Amino acid sequence: MTWQVNRRAFLQVSAAGAAHLLIGPNARALDLNSRLRLAAVGTGNKGQDDLLNVAASPRVEVVALCDVDQSQSHFGWAAEKYSRAARYADFRRLLDEAATFDAVTVSTTDHMHAPIAVAAMQLGKHVFCQKPLTHTVNEARRMREVAKQNRIVTQMGNQIQSHPAYRTAVKLVHDGAIGKVRAVHSWQSGGMDWLPKNSHPTDSDPIPKTLDWDSWLGVAPERPYKSNLYHPKNWRGWQDFGAGQLGDFGCHILDPVFMALELTAPTTIEAEAPAIDDQIWSPKSTVSYEFPGTPRTAGEVLPVTWYDGAGHKPNREGLGVPDEYDLPHAGSVLVGEQGTMVIPHWSMPQLFPEDKFREYKMPEVGEVNHYTSWADACLGDGKTTSHFGYAGPLAEAVLLGVIAIRFPKEQLQWDTRRGEFTHHADATARLTKEYRRGWPNPVG
Ligand SMILES: NC(=O)c1ccc[n+]([C@@H]2O[C@H](COP(=O)([O-])OP(=O)(O)OC[C@H]3O[C@@H](n4cnc5c(N)ncnc54)[C@H](O)[C@@H]3O)[C@@H](O)[C@H]2O)c1
Repeated sequence: MTWQVNRRAFLQVSAAGAAHLLIGPNARALDLNSRLRLAAVGTGNKGQDDLLNVAASPRVEVVALCDVDQSQSHFGWAAEKYSRAARYADFRRLLDEAATFDAVTVSTTDHMHAPIAVAAMQLGKHVFCQKPLTHTVNEARRMREVAKQNRIVTQMGNQIQSHPAYRTAVKLVHDGAIGKVRAVHSWQSGGMDWLPKNSHPTDSDPIPKTLDWDSWLGVAPERPYKSNLYHPKNWRGWQDFGAGQLGDFGCHILDPVFMALELTAPTTIEAEAPAIDDQIWSPKSTVSYEFPGTPRTAGEVLPVTWYDGAGHKPNREGLGVPDEYDLPHAGSVLVGEQGTMVIPHWSMPQLFPEDKFREYKMPEVGEVNHYTSWADACLGDGKTTSHFGYAGPLAEAVLLGVIAIRFPKEQLQWDTRRGEFTHHADATARLTKEYRRGWPNPVG
């Protein structure tokens, strides 16, 4: 399929968004007797998981499906399972039919989250959007703002937040188990199998008949198609489409840290990383943040340090864990005034010293369904926890660290009120990016 940018349709979406801002949310009134009419954008891989999990609610009816890749594993399976749903390859055509649905899951590559989600929210659609919420810092700010302006029910796809493991960790800190927290170390020590070896391919491959490559590129600059280098999944290693390992895991692993300690915006960020390639992300980094202290932290400033790269974990010294304890593959250590808590990524937190906490009664927090709780909230039943008012600042902090990786060994001063780095125009320029002509620009 050869697909041309349809400027008329883009203007329709923009005009509908603009009109909507004047007249208030263009949404169908929903209540507990309604069924939420769901559209899914990105139905392969994590998108499949998102769609199946949200659609598991009896209150949800899947009415529309959209994926740029019509092959069986990306789109075909969904078209078969939800055979009555309308089918799209281009999210703009879906948004042209905005009256047909109430809510949308956005499970595409990171670089398309904001263009799709902002346009949908401007049409009054409730949004579940994958992590990291956006590709740039300014997009994260915009997502939060548009959601608030339009009273949209939102949820970021950092589903572990709702799992007992992370919920228990947050409760332990709030219960004062380890006292006020002095320092945090967070890491993902896995290899990045999606990081390309060669950042400047010199040839291209035929575009598969099932793939609309121009729509896949979306707001990103044009480049030739190359098999398995970008789509699926391997886009993470490319600066135009993803945000590297910190972007991929930061919104999971730093989430219980943010929620437990009620962190806001960092004030300084400094990275140690190799000089960055012009196309792909770095294979290893250490990012040191300073956050303003909160009632949950000791002192006026909280240091939070992120580590990524194969086998890269924090130095054990001063962490308060016993010598024989193996730090998990990925997770966080919170060093408190009265003990240490390790939060392995995806499993229950552990408290140290062991002797002190042997008899400690762990709180029972239960599990929340991260997906159907969003659908319920869209119908007026309850609230979400990773709404963009929370997820926006979390994603912002993660993406500020991603910017610091571009400027190794420079301490960046972040002025959150002005939304710029102090005395660093090059870093400030990285808060946003150029959008391809003819495509919705979410930050205006
Ligand atoms: N929460 C988690 O645990 C978790 C796990 C994996 C991925 N993710 C996130 O989910 C998102 C997708 O990751 P993935 O690994 O599944 O990627 P992927 O490339 O494997 O799959 C993306 C799917 O979206 C489709 N797609 C891409 N661009 C599109 C567009 N513009 N419009 C419609 N469809 C489009 C693709 O064809 C594919 O089916 C990313 O944001 C990623 O960070 C989250």
